[in-house]
Amino acid sequence: MKKVYLETFGCQMNVSDSERVAAKLAADGFEITPNEAAADVVLINTCSVREKAEHKLYTRVGQIRNSEREKSGNKQIVGVLGCVAQLEGETLFEGRNEIDFVLGTKAVGRVSQAIEQVFAGQKNYFDLGDREDNYDWSVGEAQRHSPYIAFVPIIEGCNKFCTYCIVPFSRGREKSLPASEIIRQVLNLRRQGVKEIHLIGQNVNSYRPKTDSGLENFHGATAFSRLLRAVAATGIERIKFNTSFPRDFHPDIVDALDENENLCNWVHLPVQSGSNNILRAMRRGHTIESYLEKIDKIKSASRKLSLTTDIIVGFPNETDEDFFDTLKMADYCKFDSAFIFKYSPRPGTPAYSMIDNILARNKTERFLELEKLIKSNQRSIFQSYLDKTVKVLVEKISSKNKAELSGHTTCQKVVNFKGSNKLLGKIIEIKITQAKTNTLYGEICDHYVS
Ligand code: 5AD
Ligand code: SF4
Repeated sequence: MKKVYLETFGCQMNVSDSERVAAKLAADGFEITPNEAAADVVLINTCSVREKAEHKLYTRVGQIRNSEREKSGNKQIVGVLGCVAQLEGETLFEGRNEIDFVLGTKAVGRVSQAIEQVFAGQKNYFDLGDREDNYDWSVGEAQRHSPYIAFVPIIEGCNKFCTYCIVPFSRGREKSLPASEIIRQVLNLRRQGVKEIHLIGQNVNSYRPKTDSGLENFHGATAFSRLLRAVAATGIERIKFNTSFPRDFHPDIVDALDENENLCNWVHLPVQSGSNNILRAMRRGHTIESYLEKIDKIKSASRKLSLTTDIIVGFPNETDEDFFDTLKMADYCKFDSAFIFKYSPRPGTPAYSMIDNILARNKTERFLELEKLIKSNQRSIFQSYLDKTVKVLVEKISSKNKAELSGHTTCQKVVNFKGSNKLLGKIIEIKITQAKTNTLYGEICDHYVS
């Protein structure tokens, strides 16, 4: 049995693709190993969203080719998957003959054939082709990143072409999966004991399937809000979804959350900038005023919804005033947490032709100033959980402290607490006793101690 080591960088879509790659390989008689040195094949599922992410591929290939094992003449096959594979294609073979095969973002279903071809002696094998018509989107328990949580892709690709972003090029146009198929998958997952599903996609709320099949009995202003109601009706305990796109964020999504308690208390809505000048240059399709309207709606929900975002600092021509607008916006929104990125020019994107004229030093300054403001708001939000009781899905033994268990709330906060392994996979009540910047700590409420 050939052994495969699979490593994943980047977003949840890549994690989800890797789960299906592992499932396919296992079905085709390969063994997935956690031991890189023992593997016959090393697969790297890559991300190209920022330059740093892309560099990880080259660093990793260098490490593999300089390992003790390689030096002793025992070569491994190296396959590159994902966004860098799709964008660079054959050019990845140029240079030092370090990569054996390349599989684009939609070719991952043919991973076994690729490996077989390379074992059969084929050089520079690459496949950037489309998905198979009967591509299987489901993933069995053995390959899921968690036994209790499952990612369910509902839409792939992106049509938005924000000027800084490589995703529409690496993942192609938006394609929604049939609602009936999504609902079937969720019902299956529920039957398997999965407690929480994440409906995933680059822009989940741009969901637009070809037919209404599966959604006929559900009301809603958009196909996505009808899908949310349909998925809620499966009775699965928790449903989260990300990422949402501001322009397509219809208020009815919040109404659907209000109506269904199993739709979780969390919205991830990337704003990218607080300045209309920069939003226009980014071609985001929303203004700051329209974004804040959506935020007001989210904050007016009957349950307190947690709000997270992505922000880019140092986009070309971003002035101090533009950046000040971003600070003002962040202080208004009071995000539960935010991913902040320094602008990174990506070859092939429209913004690449603009001069990257914000000095690295200034990008860092802006990053730190924004981070300080967001962290300070975040601290007060986390402090407000003290002495409150939250429901936590017990996911794993804490990686930092083996004596503790760890899980998430419905509002996507990490909670650590002491407890028996028997609680894994259960949703239990925890009273919060301590709040750090990114993590809550607590104690199991009495009635669950047995
Ligand atoms: N530079 C910096 N950040 C980027 N993102 C996407 N493209 C770039 C880029 N060229 C960020 C955006 C997006 C997140 C996934 O990555 O904030 O929401
Ligand atoms: Fe990139 Fe914009 Fe599409 Fe998000 S919506 S993936 S930022 S192009």
